[in-house]
Amino acid sequence: MASISLEGLSKQYGQFRALERLDFVAQQGEFVTILGPSGSGKTTVLSLIAGLTEPTTGRIVLGGRDVTATRPAKRNIGLVFQSYALFPHMSVFDNVAFPLKVRGVPAEDARRRVRDALDLVRLRGFEARRPTQLSGGQQQRVAFARAIVFQPDILLLDEPLAALDRMLREQLQVELKQLQRKLGITTILVTHDQEEALSLSDRVLVLADGAVQQIAEPLEAYTRPANQFVAGFLGTTNCLDGEAIRHGAGNWVIRLRSGEELPYRASDEPSGSLVTISIRPEHVRVLGPNSERGVPATVIESVYLGQTVRYHVETVHGTPLIAACMQTGRPYPPGASVRLDWDSEAVWLIPEGGTSRAKAQPAAPELLRV
Ligand SMILES: Nc1ncnc2c1ncn2[C@@H]1O[C@H](COP(=O)(O)OP(=O)(O)OP(=O)(O)O)[C@@H](O)[C@H]1O
Ligand SMILES: [Mg+2]
Repeated sequence: MASISLEGLSKQYGQFRALERLDFVAQQGEFVTILGPSGSGKTTVLSLIAGLTEPTTGRIVLGGRDVTATRPAKRNIGLVFQSYALFPHMSVFDNVAFPLKVRGVPAEDARRRVRDALDLVRLRGFEARRPTQLSGGQQQRVAFARAIVFQPDILLLDEPLAALDRMLREQLQVELKQLQRKLGITTILVTHDQEEALSLSDRVLVLADGAVQQIAEPLEAYTRPANQFVAGFLGTTNCLDGEAIRHGAGNWVIRLRSGEELPYRASDEPSGSLVTISIRPEHVRVLGPNSERGVPATVIESVYLGQTVRYHVETVHGTPLIAACMQTGRPYPPGASVRLDWDSEAVWLIPEGGTSRAKAQPAAPELLRV
């Protein structure tokens, strides 16, 4: 087991900057997910750590050892990629035993270790099969076994579950988490599945265009996104732009573009007058038109999703919002008059520039002047 320390790491392909200066430390035993859209530099980070690509600047320190100039094979890293990349002509046993053979582990010892690894991924009895005689999920489990059989210090996983269907993916997510916990191995998982990132990891690192947007625990990144990109990428949100106007000590009003005014209290003052707030759809309640609380609005579209209903609504001032409500009874149809309500804690003032941590406590919407 080892910590991973990336110091001023960057990667340039010709004129193209694939990774901007990255400083990051993963603690020993930590499970970190790198999340970002296609082309954001996720695989680049893994390739740099694994030594498959050379950095343009910076250092890579694994378990206190500077490995920036160390050959990949000497970094003691287990790798799993999206395509299972098993050797098709070899049996399951030979596939898993391969890294041990390369390292010159004696046959008897190797047999025991392969058995243990296959036990861990619940594939005992499959030793003689070829990869083509396995399901996708089983092949991926063989790939996991092969990645951990030589007791690597670090596990790097590049979208290992992306090719699997949803049910199998969820099952393997649970297995992967248990495996990682059991082995206590420092793990970096690349994914563009936000649910996977939120459910599996101790911390998420959100990348966009080669630049870090936020590094935080899943709950923190979801509820307190550092900027608009993170807010929108980790789930759906309602981002509203407005102007912060001071109304006496600690009392502010955010005047939305639509003209609606949202009073709020701030322990830290907004750093600029233009602000963005984020309200998650699941925090917006859709109430009947005669409710005493909330903002008058009209349902534009209601999408029935079984457990929940997703409403596209518009306030009387024309502000579009999305609300996700637990399904009880018949959904409000398009055109229905409703009222929208949410708790003050549901509103997050997105820090300007993505770094400040202004703590805003916006007032509940019944205080909206409409
Ligand atoms: N060898 C290379 N030469 C030039 N550009 C490259 C090379 N490898 C990657 N890139 C570019 O660097 C950027 C980041 O690539 P990377 O593979 O890290 O993205 P990613 O986040 O893993 O994307 P995906 O989700 O599609 O796998 C991309 O724009 C890609 O085109
Ligand atoms: Mg990739």
